[in-house]
Amino acid sequence: MQVYKVGGAVRDRLLGLPVTDIDRVVVGATTEEMLAQGFRPVGADFPVFLHPKTGEEYALARTERKSGRGYGGFTFYASPDVTLEEDLIRRDLTINAMAEDDQQNLTDPYHGQRDLEARILRHVSPAFAEDPLRVLRVARFAARYAGLGFTVAPETLELMRELSESGELQALTAERSWKEISRALLEDQPQVFIEVLRDCGALKVLMPEVDALFGVPQPEAHHPEIDTGLHTLSVLQQAALHKQPLTVRWACLLHDLGKGLTPQEEWPRHIAHEHTGLKLIKAVNERFKAPKDCQELALLVGQYHTHGHRALELKASTLLELLQSFDVYRRPQRFEEFIAACEMDARGRKGLEQRSYPQADYLRGAATAARGVAVQPLLEQGFKGPALGEALKRERLKVLKAYKDAASA
Ligand code: CTP
Repeated sequence: MQVYKVGGAVRDRLLGLPVTDIDRVVVGATTEEMLAQGFRPVGADFPVFLHPKTGEEYALARTERKSGRGYGGFTFYASPDVTLEEDLIRRDLTINAMAEDDQQNLTDPYHGQRDLEARILRHVSPAFAEDPLRVLRVARFAARYAGLGFTVAPETLELMRELSESGELQALTAERSWKEISRALLEDQPQVFIEVLRDCGALKVLMPEVDALFGVPQPEAHHPEIDTGLHTLSVLQQAALHKQPLTVRWACLLHDLGKGLTPQEEWPRHIAHEHTGLKLIKAVNERFKAPKDCQELALLVGQYHTHGHRALELKASTLLELLQSFDVYRRPQRFEEFIAACEMDARGRKGLEQRSYPQADYLRGAATAARGVAVQPLLEQGFKGPALGEALKRERLKVLKAYKDAASA
């Protein structure tokens, strides 16, 4: 049997990037031979094994054919007579369809190296269409390698468009989609992910609520970029530049969804978009079964981001309500993430990327002040149950009034 490194490991080594996980393909072996050598089988679906010592993945060379809709609908054929070239041709992109042996001899029948040099993400063959998840994968690779100058080949974008229009994307499970979406959002240029999905018509299918933001104007005084879709992309870009975690990036993507519902006669104003957007944010959250912390933050940022921007003008009582809504006493980190999302929203505007955001420290200070109210003295005064809650609120309000006065003095 011959063993080759394939996929991302070869691609990233040739790009001079660190290689994290290594996939290997085994040509000329049977399942029985692998088991006899101590390899452990993974799952029941594909002939994939883990190395007995390193735990790395070894897959038998296989051909695949789609036999139905969705991810379940695959038949594959693995046998010692499947060649390396046959295994490589079923892969998604030419740059992912190269193999190398132990001596780093490259097998590159579909010109992956040429496309690496030309900075092109190009599909290998029509077999690309057999897994609709690849639409998201290509967009994710575009986001990852945009900084190196990679773009999607026009013919690949066309194929992605056909896949998007075919209804195949709907067959993807929430789990598989979310895995791609979350990884893409954590790339250096997550906005490129959204742009590519939009360019091939997949955004309209996957997140019509985000797609609807393009072409919706905002007041130029606050939003020199005007277009709400472009603003959203910039906010996402700022979130990546500032190394924000996934929760914040997800919230950034969804924060303005309500603007897509504003009646045209109200443009460019978006009165109460914070509220109208909530049901859309909820729908997107649920569609992809986003993790609870992402869901929660997106809803809170959607509802309160304009409070964040107006922090310095908020009445002490409104400030208190904001802090209460975030349960800032038990969930300080979540409030920090809210502040970060607001700041990214403020900076994700054309020409305003470097602006200062004094609201951030002001909100932090308010949270610290409110958190400083001690419970013990109130307990000693005999407060308990709901009355204790009310007494705490009164004390916190006092402290916030003083905080506000001191800040404006
Ligand atoms: N692959 C594919 N189609 C998919 C998933 C994977 O063709 N839907 C192939 C590609 O050749 C890919 C390889 O399987 O390179 C390994 O897949 P995976 O580990 O998911 O991706 P990597 O390319 O290694 O990329 P990453 O760095 O994102 O892990």
